[in-house]
Amino acid sequence: MTPQDRRTFAIISHPDAGKTTLTEKLLLFGGAIHLAGEVKARGQARRARSDWMKIEQQRGISVTSSVMTFERQGITFNLLDTPGHEDFSEDTYRTLTAVDSAVMVIDAAKGIEPQTRKLFEVCRLRSVPIITFVNKVDREGRPPFELLDEVADMLQLDVCPMTWPVGMGGQFEGIFDLVDNRLLLPEGDSREFQGKVEQYRGLDDPDLANTLSPEGVDRLREEAELAVAGYADFDGDRYCAGDLTPVYFGSALKEFGVDSLIDAIARHAPSPRPQPAEPAPVQPSDSEVTGFIFKVQANMDPNHRDRIAFMRLCSGVFKRGMKLTPSGHGKPIAIHSPILFFARERELADEAYPGDIIGIPNHGVLRVGDTLSERPGVRFTGLPNFAPEILRRVQLKDFTKTKQLRKALDDMAEEGVTQVFYPEIGSNWIIGVVGQLQLEVLLSRLDAEYKVAAGLEPAPFDTARWVSAADPAELKTFMELNRTSMAKDRDDNPVFLAKSAWEVNYIAERYPAVKFAATRER
Ligand code: G4P
Repeated sequence: MTPQDRRTFAIISHPDAGKTTLTEKLLLFGGAIHLAGEVKARGQARRARSDWMKIEQQRGISVTSSVMTFERQGITFNLLDTPGHEDFSEDTYRTLTAVDSAVMVIDAAKGIEPQTRKLFEVCRLRSVPIITFVNKVDREGRPPFELLDEVADMLQLDVCPMTWPVGMGGQFEGIFDLVDNRLLLPEGDSREFQGKVEQYRGLDDPDLANTLSPEGVDRLREEAELAVAGYADFDGDRYCAGDLTPVYFGSALKEFGVDSLIDAIARHAPSPRPQPAEPAPVQPSDSEVTGFIFKVQANMDPNHRDRIAFMRLCSGVFKRGMKLTPSGHGKPIAIHSPILFFARERELADEAYPGDIIGIPNHGVLRVGDTLSERPGVRFTGLPNFAPEILRRVQLKDFTKTKQLRKALDDMAEEGVTQVFYPEIGSNWIIGVVGQLQLEVLLSRLDAEYKVAAGLEPAPFDTARWVSAADPAELKTFMELNRTSMAKDRDDNPVFLAKSAWEVNYIAERYPAVKFAATRER
C-alpha cells in the first residue's frame, strides 16, 4: 500500500441538499455496508450513545463529525463528516484542514446555498480541490446551464460538466456520461438506477433514438453539445489547484451518478498532499511518521471519561504500539489502541498510511492542533483558532462549583467547542464561540457531564484579538494601559477584548507596534 491509494475527502453542502443520502450510497456502493439506511441507523446508535448531546436529538442534526472508511478497486476512501447545520463551528473548519479534497453537493432545485458557500470559502483558503455533485435530478430542478453558471459566477470557478441529465423530474430519462459516452438508465416503477448502462459512439450516435424519446434525444444533443463547447475542458492540474470543478449530475436517492462520483474521486482527486509544516512541508513519502490532531471528542461514552483525539496521518507508516511525541510537550506516548473508523464498526488499527485518520484514546494529553511525530521537531501549521463572533459571560449558579466550571471550560476549549478567556480584572470568565449553536452545546454539556448549573449573560465585549509584538516592552506597555480589556486564553496567551470591530481598528491604529490577530495558529 502507498499514499497513492488513499483519498481523504469531505462532503460540503447546505442542510437538506442530500449529504446523508449520498454518504449512505457512497458507503453502500463502496461495499462498506450492505443495506441502505444503515447510516441513519448508525447515526441513531451514535446519538443514543452520546446522549449528553441532547441538542443533536432535538434538532435532528449531527453536531459532531465522524470518519467513515471504505475500499473499492484497491483504493481506500476516508470520508470525513463535516457538521451540516447552519451554525458554524471551528470543528467544521478544522475537519476541512484534514482532507485532501471535497465533494460539493448542490440541490438541483436550489443551486448554491449559504452554507455551501461558506464551506466552499474555507476550502478555497487551503486550495482544496472540489468535485461538484448536482443532486436530485429525479425531481424538477433548475436548468443545468443556470446551475453551472451560478457555480462559476458565485464561486469564481471554472466548471466542466462530466455528465449531463436527459431532462429532470417527470421528463428525466437518464444521465449521459460525456467522457465515456455511456447512458445510465432508470428501471422499474421506482425509476431507480439498477446498473442498466448503454454504450454509444458519441452524442451523434443514431442508436440513441432506440432508447430515448425523440424529445429526449433532441434535448440531450442540443444541450450537451452546447455544454461541451461552452465550458472549460477538464484539466486535472487546474482541478487539483482548486481553479476548476468537474460537475456530475445525479440523484443520491435513486442512485444515479453515485458510481461515477466514486470513480471520479478515485481517478481525479488527489492522494495525500504535502502538508504545511515547520521547519519544512511534510511529504507523504517521508519515512518518519507524522500527523496532526484536528478534533478531540470527549465523553463519547458517559460511563467512561474517555477522550478520542482524531489524528490525520501525514507521512510514514504508522504501526500499533508506536511511540509518538506530541508537540505540546516533550514526552513520547505509546499508541497501543488506535482506532480506525470503519463504517460498520470501529476496528483496531494495526497499520495506517498517510491520509488515514486514527482515533487515539487518551486522558486529555492530546489537544487540537498538536503535531505527533516519531522524532520531535516537526510542527504542522495552519490549524487556526478563530476570533469568536459571540462573547458571553458565564454566570455560575452555585459558587461551590467554581473548580468544576473551570475544568469544564478548559476541557471544552481544548476540544474546540468554545474558547475561554480569563479577564485580567474581575472574576467573570468569558466564553467565545463562532456560532450560536455552540452556546447551547456548552450549557447542555456543563449540566449533563460536569453537573454545573450555569447561565450566560451578554458580555461587555463583542470580539477578541490575540495580541503580540516584536518588542516585549511594547506589548507590556499596551497591556498595562488597557488592562480592563485584557484577558488570557486557556494557554495563557494575551487577548484583547474589544467592544466592536471599530474599536479594534481604532486601537490598532494607536498602537502600531502591536499585532492584533483574528486567528491564532496553534
Ligand atoms: P442532508 O444530509 O444534506 O441534510 O440531506 P438528506 O440526505 O437528509 O436529504 C434531505 C431530503 O432530501 C430527504 O428527504 C432525502 O430523502 C431527500 N433526497 C436526498 N437525495 C435526493 C434525491 O436524489 N432525490 C430526491 N428526490 N430526494 C432526495 P426527507 O423527506 O427530508 O427525508 P426522508 O423522510 O426521505 O428521510
